Amino acid sequence: MKTINPTTTKAWQELQKHFKENKHLKIKKMFINNKNRKQDFTYSLPNFELDLSKNLITQKTIQLLLNLADEMCLKEKIDALFTAKKINVTENRAVLHTALRDFSDTEILVDTKNIKPEITKTLHKIKTFSENIISGKTTGYTGKAFTDIVNVGIGGSDLGPKMVVNALKFYKNHLKTHFISNIDGDHSAEILKELNPETTLFILVSKTFTTQETITNAKTIQQWFLKKATKNDIKHNFVAVSTNIEKAQGFGIAKENIFTMWDWVGGRFSLWSAVGLSISISIGFDNFKELLLGANQMDNHFKNTPFSKNLPVLDALVSIWYTNFYQTQTEAILPYTQYLEQFVPFIQQLLMESNGKSTDLNKQPVNYQTGTIIWGNVGTNMQHAFMQLIHQGTKLIPTQFIGFKKPLHNNLEHHKKLLANFYAQGEALAFGKSKEKVHLELKLNGNKDKIESLLPYKIFTGNKPSTYITLDKLTPFSLGKLIAFYEHKTFVQGVLWNINSFDQFGVELGKELANKKLA
Ligand code: F6P
Repeated sequence: MKTINPTTTKAWQELQKHFKENKHLKIKKMFINNKNRKQDFTYSLPNFELDLSKNLITQKTIQLLLNLADEMCLKEKIDALFTAKKINVTENRAVLHTALRDFSDTEILVDTKNIKPEITKTLHKIKTFSENIISGKTTGYTGKAFTDIVNVGIGGSDLGPKMVVNALKFYKNHLKTHFISNIDGDHSAEILKELNPETTLFILVSKTFTTQETITNAKTIQQWFLKKATKNDIKHNFVAVSTNIEKAQGFGIAKENIFTMWDWVGGRFSLWSAVGLSISISIGFDNFKELLLGANQMDNHFKNTPFSKNLPVLDALVSIWYTNFYQTQTEAILPYTQYLEQFVPFIQQLLMESNGKSTDLNKQPVNYQTGTIIWGNVGTNMQHAFMQLIHQGTKLIPTQFIGFKKPLHNNLEHHKKLLANFYAQGEALAFGKSKEKVHLELKLNGNKDKIESLLPYKIFTGNKPSTYITLDKLTPFSLGKLIAFYEHKTFVQGVLWNINSFDQFGVELGKELANKKLA
């Protein structure tokens, strides 16, 4: 497959020229000149809308970015992703998180073996296991029904399930779900304090089953458990999710209590596999399946839609426009729902572990920016924390607002206010407040004497770009769609930067040195 340096393409040269000519674009002016700008730059899927109109882009920008996607062979690479080509070249692996949510009859061959039956078998095991835990049919070692579930894992074995369980709290059953990840002993100590070993199920999640944090925490938990129970009881209260069956068994987990994973699913893309067991137990298998179906809808859109209407492709392209031409360093993700409190850390791993690379697919050091620093928090809390810098600071920070039209509660008063803030922020960023307006306001508010001293501080230059992602309602289905949207955005950026988004050698050196220091 063609792997070229994007800066050598015709489209890149043209984008550079276009950037120089349009550096002084004004969002406000573009809205005045085109009354249909919002519609012209809004792209939709059922109950999912991507509004790019408040960005520093024109139709020509989009066209040139689409040319870049073509020159970088994006279509071929998307096909390679879905047809199990070993696109994770450094690890010689296929990348098939999309297969985990593909309920069609199409075979997917990895090294001539159809992987669909294994996926179905694991899904069936997840279903039966979750249902038995929820109903109380499967019990802890003393025969009491489970009350608490603890997911023990880190990185992709923690952030995905934790984010989803938290986001879908509204759909949760009676079981309490906890997450232990940090090697800091305080993390496990604080959680274990609340738990009864008889009624707690521990899910040890580690793709490799060698991760220091997870193994250390698992050992500590077992010691705590064995203060009350015996070794023979472990099989009732501990299960594992791993590709490394031997190591999991070596740890004392019964073979039938091990849920398999596969090397063709990367850690940060793994919540759709048995890594999502805590999700299925917390909200029930039917809801877990809805999450997968939502993601599958986004997969089909991504795979089959022309790039000019393809939501994850367009969003990735606009982000490249800022990163590589405006030379912005960061992107803020701002979900307007408390339920998405854990969304930013999840997306941080997804985008930054995937695309924080400086060697390209030709083994050459890159001579352009890759990766974006992702940060953010939920609205409206963050309006009272860091928004000042985005509105009036010196840095250009493209922002992504995520919001839901309908709330899950019945208090319309709250929701109206939330949405008013959601839309107000983007408007303030884009259109700002002029000197003349500030002047008039101070005058009308009886502050004529303060005009001279206050006026410069109250001006908002505006012209700060933002993107709106609007969904109908937070459901397992819509959340699945949203996560898959960001997964594909990550992939598209990796393709356009000519890097492998699916390895993570950058985390190894720290681990190696920590082990040496420990010794
Ligand atoms: O931080 C590196 C990493 O390898 C992540 O990619 C992964 O999600 C995490 O560690 C956990 O790995 P494992 O599931 O093998 O314990």
